[in-house]
Amino acid sequence: MIIATVKPSLVLTRDGSHSLRNNITGEHYHSIFGAYTESMHVFVAAGLQLQASATATLRLLEVGVGTGLNLVLAARYALQADCSINYTGLEPYPIDIEILKDLNYNEFIGADLFNNYVTAYPQLLTGAAWQQANFEANVLQKPLLEFESEQCFDLIFYDAFSPVSQVGMWEEASIAKVASLLAPGGVLVTYCIRGYIRRQFLALGLQAEKLPGPPGKREMMRITKPKHV
Ligand SMILES: C[S@@+](CC[C@H](N)C(=O)[O-])C[C@H]1O[C@@H](n2cnc3c(N)ncnc32)[C@H](O)[C@@H]1O
Repeated sequence: MIIATVKPSLVLTRDGSHSLRNNITGEHYHSIFGAYTESMHVFVAAGLQLQASATATLRLLEVGVGTGLNLVLAARYALQADCSINYTGLEPYPIDIEILKDLNYNEFIGADLFNNYVTAYPQLLTGAAWQQANFEANVLQKPLLEFESEQCFDLIFYDAFSPVSQVGMWEEASIAKVASLLAPGGVLVTYCIRGYIRRQFLALGLQAEKLPGPPGKREMMRITKPKHV
């Protein structure tokens, strides 16, 4: 169980980028072997690079916005690759802006873009979009199971806490929910790979790939919804 009122602690991961530790569960928001490296590997290289050209405007959903690292990396990708991305993020327990200001992602992503995100963060949490040229982000303070959407998504970053601390995020209701949010041909990427989770996606008619993981992790998982189900 996550207790939102307890402040997470800042930690330095092995590639020099920051992450946060939840002080109730002891769980980190990213890999301690490198937060930036993990996000680039799992979400950008295995997800965004594959799907960016799938549709004119990529519909991207992130489950677990946290620090916004993946959100800002997606914005940077859209700006650099000149593609259009519409990002929706779910975060029922948003971090405090003072914690966000302490993160050193400006050194990894680019100071202008990250500082711009930090400035926009309070409005983003009240429902205003953050727009950067062809990238638009909206964040909803909702848990996955309460999220209703008229649109499906071409790409999902499934970045929930691990099954050790948040088992419900990897059980049938959550997996069925997130699978239902994928568009035909859509892709979900996650750092977490366990046999019982992979089998739940397979049972729903989706395809599951094991890919090499980021530093400190042998494998990661990529799920694809067939174009014709
Ligand atoms: C592993 S961290 C995410 C890291 C994040 N993507 C980042 O780059 O900082 C997991 C996040 O999921 C959020 N979370 C917890 N329960 C959730 C739920 N039911 N639906 C969506 N997000 C949830 C947590 O508050 C936390 O921010």
